[in-house]
Amino acid sequence: MTQPHHNPDATTSLHWDQYRDTAMGRYQLRQEQDFVRTVLRAAPRPPKLLELCSCAGRVTLPLKGLTAGVTGLDIDFEALTVFKGPAHENPAVVADAQSLPFEQASFDCVVAFQCFRYFEHRAFFTNCNRVLSNDGWLVFQMVNGVSYKRTLRRLIGSSPDEAPSGNITADEVLAAANAHGFAVKFVKGYNWVPFIPDTTRFSDSPAVRIAAIAERMLQLERYYRVSPWVLIAAQKVRSV
Ligand SMILES: C[S@@+](CC[C@H](N)C(=O)[O-])C[C@H]1O[C@@H](n2cnc3c(N)ncnc32)[C@H](O)[C@@H]1O
Repeated sequence: MTQPHHNPDATTSLHWDQYRDTAMGRYQLRQEQDFVRTVLRAAPRPPKLLELCSCAGRVTLPLKGLTAGVTGLDIDFEALTVFKGPAHENPAVVADAQSLPFEQASFDCVVAFQCFRYFEHRAFFTNCNRVLSNDGWLVFQMVNGVSYKRTLRRLIGSSPDEAPSGNITADEVLAAANAHGFAVKFVKGYNWVPFIPDTTRFSDSPAVRIAAIAERMLQLERYYRVSPWVLIAAQKVRSV
């Protein structure tokens, strides 16, 4: 089994929640939350939602009112202390996302943002399939192995991404989701903003907003096959 990835690139436990107020952070959060909202609208009733690698709940906690409850799961105890809230109102579980401590069909929606690359993708789909109810939704984000940013990184000599699913392509991921009991319903490319990822989450440059407008006007979300980051929503159609 793949070992847990302990984020050697994170300087503090709440690193991932600290960029939500930058131009880049606001841009990413808007894309990600809009995408989750699309799924919540498509669901027949407010889903019981599990967020994998939730950190302190940047993405899903603000959407809690649209759900039948949000549970966070992360290996980071400190992040989950924040996730839980002052009155422990939000359930949270310290666990490895590679071995989910829940009964079969415990949730109607599993969300996993900015973490897919840590996991062997087939095992990820199998684990998510097991804890999802029939017709439940898996909503996740991936870094695309083929994009102009990846090409630039290679050209400037950056070392390749060594995470288990760090180089997989969007098409490979969609095919694997289908093979593991899911029907892919929504796909959206994003993060075309022309900066190298991972060094620029904290960017507050006005260029981010301009690039985001250009991205929208050119409808780049449609070109997910070559998009730097990809959002995918898939519905469980059979157990595996
Ligand atoms: C890049 S952060 C993303 C946080 C959050 N999903 C977001 O989008 O803001 C990755 C998170 O994954 C968690 N993580 C890494 N490996 C994990 C594992 N094997 N099981 C559970 N959580 C893990 C880290 O502790 C961290 O909170």
